[in-house]
Amino acid sequence: MTGNGPPMTLLELSGIHKALGHGSGRVPVLRDVSFAIGPGEVCAITGASGSGKSTLLTLIGLLDRPDSGRLLFEGENVARATADRQASLRGRRIGFVFQSFHLLSRLTALDNVALPFLYRGLSPRACRGRAEAMLHRVGLADRIGHRPDELSGGQRQRVAIARALVGRPALLLADEPTGNLDSAAARHILDLFFELNAETGVAVILVTHDPGIAARCPRRLTIEDGRLTADGRQAP
Ligand SMILES: Nc1ncnc2c1ncn2[C@@H]1O[C@H](COP(=O)(O)OP(=O)(O)OP(=O)(O)O)[C@@H](O)[C@H]1O
Ligand SMILES: [Mg+2]
Repeated sequence: MTGNGPPMTLLELSGIHKALGHGSGRVPVLRDVSFAIGPGEVCAITGASGSGKSTLLTLIGLLDRPDSGRLLFEGENVARATADRQASLRGRRIGFVFQSFHLLSRLTALDNVALPFLYRGLSPRACRGRAEAMLHRVGLADRIGHRPDELSGGQRQRVAIARALVGRPALLLADEPTGNLDSAAARHILDLFFELNAETGVAVILVTHDPGIAARCPRRLTIEDGRLTADGRQAP
């Protein structure tokens, strides 16, 4: 590669295999999965329950390692990186959003969003400033002092999205982010993903059971029994 421009490919998987479980209970979960995602791409992953979607996200999110195959993130073979290097990339370059929000119940919305920054050594004041701006952006300016149990499901997911994106990651991984929301709230969360993608260039990989949500994504990957069986793009 020449120059210092951004890589053409943000993420590249080739020949990824992963088995889970122990001893005789060990079962192949991902089989020979290969695909690539460009910077700023938005991609849905669909597939039946148990097909391996969450396992795939944990590998991409550097929370576990493949048994074999290559996993390149911004050109670096991260499957073989040290645990420290993986943790650093996870903290700075990758954001996570889950179905069940995973917010800290004793902290306000503001402190939930500010927390990842505190770990990076920014002053508490600077962390709060960035967190507050991000909460404004996701439409929660009037809820920054509320704790999660004082928020609706859709509002909680907005806090989680603010937390995931406040550090400006290159990639957002979302595992069933609308699974606990009614259809109107789910639509609004997806709108927010698209807006933030357009504004910040963050790439989004979104696992969903919902065909309506998947249909709105410009690219759709399908997983069946651990194999990638379809990879479709639609014109914007
Ligand atoms: N720790 C584990 N040990 C053994 N098997 C596991 C483990 N974790 C997941 N599996 C198996 O791996 C397969 C894929 O699981 P995974 O959670 O990735 O599926 P999924 O596509 O995310 O399903 P869902 O849509 O229900 O969330 C399943 O058959 C599951 O039982
Ligand atoms: Mg899952």
